[in-house]
Amino acid sequence: MSNNATFDLPEFPWDRLAPLGDKARAHPGGIVDLSIGTPVDSVPEVIQSALSAASDSPGYPPTAGIPALQKAMRDWSVKYLGTSESVGVLPSIGSKEMVTLLPFLLRAKRVLYPDIAYPSYHVGAVLAGAEAIPVGEDPKSWPAADFAWINSPSNPTGALMSDQAVRDAIQWAKSNNAYLVSDECYLQLGWEATPRSVLSFPEAADVKVIALHSLSKRSNLAGYRAGFAVGNPSVISELLEIRKHVGMMMPGPVQLAMIAALADTEHVTKQRAVYLRRRTELHRGLTAAGFTIHDSVAGLYLWATRDEECWKSADWLAGHGILVAPGDFYGVRGKNFVRAALTATDERIDVAVARLTATA
Ligand SMILES: Cc1ncc(COP(=O)(O)O)c(C=O)c1O
Repeated sequence: MSNNATFDLPEFPWDRLAPLGDKARAHPGGIVDLSIGTPVDSVPEVIQSALSAASDSPGYPPTAGIPALQKAMRDWSVKYLGTSESVGVLPSIGSKEMVTLLPFLLRAKRVLYPDIAYPSYHVGAVLAGAEAIPVGEDPKSWPAADFAWINSPSNPTGALMSDQAVRDAIQWAKSNNAYLVSDECYLQLGWEATPRSVLSFPEAADVKVIALHSLSKRSNLAGYRAGFAVGNPSVISELLEIRKHVGMMMPGPVQLAMIAALADTEHVTKQRAVYLRRRTELHRGLTAAGFTIHDSVAGLYLWATRDEECWKSADWLAGHGILVAPGDFYGVRGKNFVRAALTATDERIDVAVARLTATA
């Protein structure tokens, strides 16, 4: 546990990784940092231009987003998520703030989240003073609650939920009159399978279902903090009301940049090709070094194991100057896995692969 006096928060996982970071940095060829999914490629020119053109922005931006942004989010959702035209949309300051604040904003009392997952679902439940309950993959086994997270493609595993599991999760939400929130920030990064939004399921129509989207990975916009929530219009208006009071506004210039980003698909296709190459190379390197890759059909990570304790694998990799995230950051089920991100430059990925294949 951390020494935070107000909340019973776990220690920030990446702080625990600092000693292995030092070890990897000491490698004569330098560190290859695959521990965090932070984009390293440039912000596409079309988005940078939209941001600079909007830099004279003296007034408060609307919390709901300017009408052109609302239209851009809705059009994108209809086209890529398969939603109806009447779907609710709301910009967010990246999606992480939504992940950690939603249980509080929606006054959740019992929050279910995948037992192998992005740590912020747990943190959000703790901040809301709610009970945080890790659950398995089959929604038919979930206990009663008023809020549940799903995440497909999953961080860290890169697995997709089956259509049946999504339907069961929607049914669970309906039976419990609960919120079902689908974190879909990796939706456009499918490699061996095509991810599908919860909102494309007709069963979701009258249920309290929303999805979170992010331009951080799709458009290299992690630094802009550009995300949005989309889904059931009453849930979205409930969130809008609270967020207006709190003043949670996406900055005006970022709203304009996001419109440009959502309208452009060329940079998405290019960036996907960059990640696909890195994925293929890293897969080859890790396999040569004795790792087996599990799941990882989509998303920004390889979920790898050598059937040994994750810190042992992470330490071995750090000895070769490669920093990864130990799988127990994401739940006990990850204790024999490490997560390697595809977010290093081509040069660093090639260095990592050369080091890994040399160990074979
Ligand atoms: C599963 C998942 N959800 C949400 C986020 C938050 O991303 P952002 O706040 O950049 O939109 C991340 C970031 O890595 C993530 O992996």
